Amino acid sequence: MTRIHVPDAHRLHPGYAHPVLRRWQSGPDVDPSQLVYPIFVVDDSDARQEINGMPGQYRWGVNRLEEALSSAVADGLRSVLLFGVPSGDKDAAASHADGPDSPVISALRRLRELFPDLYLITDICLCAYTDHGHCCLFGEHGRMDNEATIQRLAGIAVSYAGAGANMVAPSDMMDGRIRSIKQGLREAALGDTPVMSYSAKFASCFYGPFREAAHSIPTFGDRHAYQLPVAARGLALRAIDRDIAEGADFVMVKPAGPYLDIIREARNRVHVPVACYQVSGECAMIHHAAAAGSFELRAAVHESIDAFRRAGADVFITYFAPDLLRWKR
Ligand code: PBG
Ligand code: ZN
Repeated sequence: MTRIHVPDAHRLHPGYAHPVLRRWQSGPDVDPSQLVYPIFVVDDSDARQEINGMPGQYRWGVNRLEEALSSAVADGLRSVLLFGVPSGDKDAAASHADGPDSPVISALRRLRELFPDLYLITDICLCAYTDHGHCCLFGEHGRMDNEATIQRLAGIAVSYAGAGANMVAPSDMMDGRIRSIKQGLREAALGDTPVMSYSAKFASCFYGPFREAAHSIPTFGDRHAYQLPVAARGLALRAIDRDIAEGADFVMVKPAGPYLDIIREARNRVHVPVACYQVSGECAMIHHAAAAGSFELRAAVHESIDAFRRAGADVFITYFAPDLLRWKR
């Protein structure tokens, strides 16, 4: 075969031969303020419970929150996402979400004292508090009661914002929840609380380890009637548009890694920052593969975050947030 002539315009190597040029080609680095660390809080004040299936993650009692977060905060952590895990009786109304013994409310108060500058986001959902483990209330004939649920969610959002949450993030996937929460906050004179909607939240198997951590496995059925079908691109885009129309300040795509196309479409579509959530199962996969010697943990985590950034995400919710900050130091 005769030698192929590669024209200059087709020679890409010169553009990334030097490490400086590889940085130029890669867009801006992730800033620590773009990382959000999800943590689990329990109502047993002194608890530090290891979570099976989520290596390195614990459920924390209020008296252990300093231990849970001080080194990450010292490394530059700016924001956490709180999930409450109640130990008391669950009920049909999800009473423990914002009752006097609410783990989230005690954690908010304590974190505000411990870390005055930490940005506190609270997940808003019912599934950890309902006796059936679903994200909704049920009405007559055991039917999902969308309207009653969004009313209850607004009440929880008001309780959390009133207890010091900087932002609320509903993950339930009921219709009209953003409007309901916004209205509830406004009527409680908490209308300046931003709302991050888990807009494109898919019915993913990658939530498995989380459900064990949060004790929120449904006692019957599944979440397919409210979380989005995995392959439903159109519904994801409609959910994003709808939530923006209802006043969402931020939208989220979840899970992140298997849904990079949705992150990119969201980015091209809306004029609010797009968050992505690298969920429990994604983190577990990376941990397990690294432990089996398939690759180095640190390289895989960095590559995953780079991919989210390339897809267009502005905010990265990940259990690896403390690791990323430590590695950066
Ligand atoms: C609750 C909720 C879930 C996650 C965040 N909020 C689980 C679910 O919807 O079943 C998953 C997070 C993760 O897997 O890390 N609605
Ligand atoms: Zn839920």
